[in-house]
Amino acid sequence: IRKKIVITRKLPDPIIQELDERNYRIHMWPSEDDPMPYDKIVKEAAEADALLTNVSDQIDKQVLSAGAKLKIVSTMAVGYNNIDIQEASKRGIYVGHTPDVLTEAVADLTFALLLAVSRKIVEGMAFIKADRWNSWGPMLLTGQDVWGSTLGIIGMGRIGEAVSRRAAGFGMNILYCNRNRKPQAEQQLGVAYAELDDLLTKSDFVVMLAPSTPATHRMLGEREFHLMKPNAVFINTSRGENVDEAALFHALKNKRIWGAGLDVFEQEPITSRHRLFGLENVTLLPHIGSATIATRLKMAGIAVQNIKAVLSGGKPAHCVNEF
Ligand code: GLV
Ligand code: GLV
Repeated sequence: IRKKIVITRKLPDPIIQELDERNYRIHMWPSEDDPMPYDKIVKEAAEADALLTNVSDQIDKQVLSAGAKLKIVSTMAVGYNNIDIQEASKRGIYVGHTPDVLTEAVADLTFALLLAVSRKIVEGMAFIKADRWNSWGPMLLTGQDVWGSTLGIIGMGRIGEAVSRRAAGFGMNILYCNRNRKPQAEQQLGVAYAELDDLLTKSDFVVMLAPSTPATHRMLGEREFHLMKPNAVFINTSRGENVDEAALFHALKNKRIWGAGLDVFEQEPITSRHRLFGLENVTLLPHIGSATIATRLKMAGIAVQNIKAVLSGGKPAHCVNEF
């Protein structure tokens, strides 16, 4: 009997063609924009040998325990905080992910947000659109210097290093904090290690790139935002859970920090009624860090390869867990 692969979101045809229908039964959710409902995932998991998922699905104990035949959960993402890894390991289910291929794309978007906030890019276009551009103005739409400023990176993994390389081109002084020091990155990229409070106090730009774990849960809150400079710009392209969003909102509203660029939120999706949307000093994006055509196709391709490896008796090339 052919193994069954459940795919929680419609993927492009060339990706699906890599899964030969003669070898597998494929159940793919037909929508690209709307998620497979949670109850449906639980139901489908019960029949599945493999589950191809993404950041919007909650793959918790209930889903995993329903999956009596499940051998792999393959997420089309680098982050896997939405998956109960411990439970998967307990049940002998591999969790595959897609690191590396998205590193440069996420670093690009991180820098795009940094530039957009500091130079009021989105506001500038809205200004023209509203027909408010009457004349050149000495202080019109003035922002913050990027060149020569100090960048603080929280979480110096692959993406942090890629952001550092871009920042070097902008003549930035770069500080980082991380669970462990990275002597090699310090040498090769000219970045300096700092304790979190020190980094927050000194940085003009604070970029959050840590993965979401119990240790990073709301690691930036009221105290941390108060430590930042009044001209500081905060960027988050990692996970909303790393930040106390209410504290960030108040820091922005009371102008304790200058602005923020956010691609991720505590609860996604957000709508235009979200309180952050009422602020003028923010640029908000719908979790598109890795969203280039080439990168997303590579991520989907790896997610498929991880499944094929496991269903033919091997291990995923990019595996999160061991058991
Ligand atoms: C996206 O957020 C990812 O983890 O790949
Ligand atoms: C973190 O997700 C990284 O890839 O550095």
